[in-house]
Amino acid sequence: MQQLEDERPRKRVTPYLLYCVSTAVIGSLQFGYNTGVINAPEQKLREFFQNVYLERYGSPLTPEATTLMWSFAVAIFSVGGMVGSFSVGSLVNRFGRRKSMLISNILAVLGGGLMGLSSLSRSFEMVVIGRLIIGLFCGLCTGLTPMYVGEISPTALRGAFGTLHQLGVVIGILVAQIFGLESLLGSSNLWPLLLALTILPAVLQTIMLPFCPESPRYLLIVLKQEEEARKALVRLHGREDVSDDIQEMKEEGVKMATEKKATVLELFRSPVYRQPIIIAIVLQLSQQLSGINAVFYYSTGIFKTAGVTQPIYATIGAGVVNTVRTFLSPAGRRTLHLIGLAGMAVSALVMTISLSLVKTNESLSYLAIVAVFAFVASFEMGPGPIPWFIVAELFSQGPRPAAMAVAGCSNWTANFLVGLGFPRLEELCGPYVFLIFMVLLILFFIFTYLKVPETKGLTFDQITDGFANKAVQSSGPDAVIVSSQTGSEPVPLSPT
Ligand code: GLC
Repeated sequence: MQQLEDERPRKRVTPYLLYCVSTAVIGSLQFGYNTGVINAPEQKLREFFQNVYLERYGSPLTPEATTLMWSFAVAIFSVGGMVGSFSVGSLVNRFGRRKSMLISNILAVLGGGLMGLSSLSRSFEMVVIGRLIIGLFCGLCTGLTPMYVGEISPTALRGAFGTLHQLGVVIGILVAQIFGLESLLGSSNLWPLLLALTILPAVLQTIMLPFCPESPRYLLIVLKQEEEARKALVRLHGREDVSDDIQEMKEEGVKMATEKKATVLELFRSPVYRQPIIIAIVLQLSQQLSGINAVFYYSTGIFKTAGVTQPIYATIGAGVVNTVRTFLSPAGRRTLHLIGLAGMAVSALVMTISLSLVKTNESLSYLAIVAVFAFVASFEMGPGPIPWFIVAELFSQGPRPAAMAVAGCSNWTANFLVGLGFPRLEELCGPYVFLIFMVLLILFFIFTYLKVPETKGLTFDQITDGFANKAVQSSGPDAVIVSSQTGSEPVPLSPT
């Protein structure tokens, strides 16, 4: 009973905490929306490119050149994402978390504005530059949101709130899929509005952010404003006595002062950071190289191959499964990631079997739909949400921004490669293309099983201490006992 009473305040979700998390998660929604929005109006945009070219130069654009220009407009989003995510570190170090989110919204307005006015201005360049700027913006969102949410959440709620980033992403994708229907905004006249809609959430977040505090960890550890940090914590966590959180941050601050400055290079050089940065990168790769975006970018084509008559609705179905599954996702880490990877591998196999036999047995097209849905649902068990928030957990305050930058950039690079490479791979491998992802998923499963520790319920301090001890005792047994100075029990930090 006593323990229950002690536990409850630590898991208390105050309305203010909810407000701040929701404000930040608008950034996740933006990332999802802009990921999903480009699919539906593909044909309309191609026509726009051709018409503008003809008006300007008096000769038609060849189909090859149109495809090239189209692929460029799609891929440049991820290039922006790579640069944006890599810039997160320097931005948050200079401006803090909250102001960085505010600044990033300027990009959304600029990019959305360019795309929205492109048709009026008869300029395809504006679409391409707009997508680049929106990519930059989304790259920033994928670092800023998980970092801010991770830093303002009480330890016991970090996983549950971390999942909200992914929930924002999947809702954004779904909204984009629905708005993109031809009967809504996906028509020849309205597509510029569809692309410009991203301005609205940016304005909303700009209005809401000034009422959120700067991250208490940033206030205390970087700016040394203890009183401000205490006030923010009291409001966020809804309890007067936040001395244990303050104590934990102070210890982290002391440790940070003794650490060398954590540059990106240092992350790979220092034995203390090497293991967590490798884990962070591989987890990001496991998310993207699982093939998830082969489904989200190209599912309509996949469903068509499977003989589905109205593929766009199956695609929206995948978006719905994605959203519902994420909503129900429990807040664990390692085990869920493993179950998710295994589920995806099995679904990829079933997908391959049904796609390769569908010509001889039409009813297998239903099995293909079920397999795609199961693939997506397994993804949201772990590989979807976990990589995004675990990076903030694996590192202490000093190296965290650099680590988020490296991890985010790895994610976007892999996203770019899958987006660009999948159509060609599909041409080469036909229905067997998902076997490639199956093999990769098995490799990621093995890596996670052997290397990734459970971080659920541990403070940032306990987690990073675990890696530090492991680096020191690298020749010792696998399980490392971490004795935290935060007054809690010693914590085993091992992959089992
Ligand atoms: C993750 C991925 C993103 C993907 C989405 C699908 O957030 O980072 O690339 O589109 O999940 O739900």
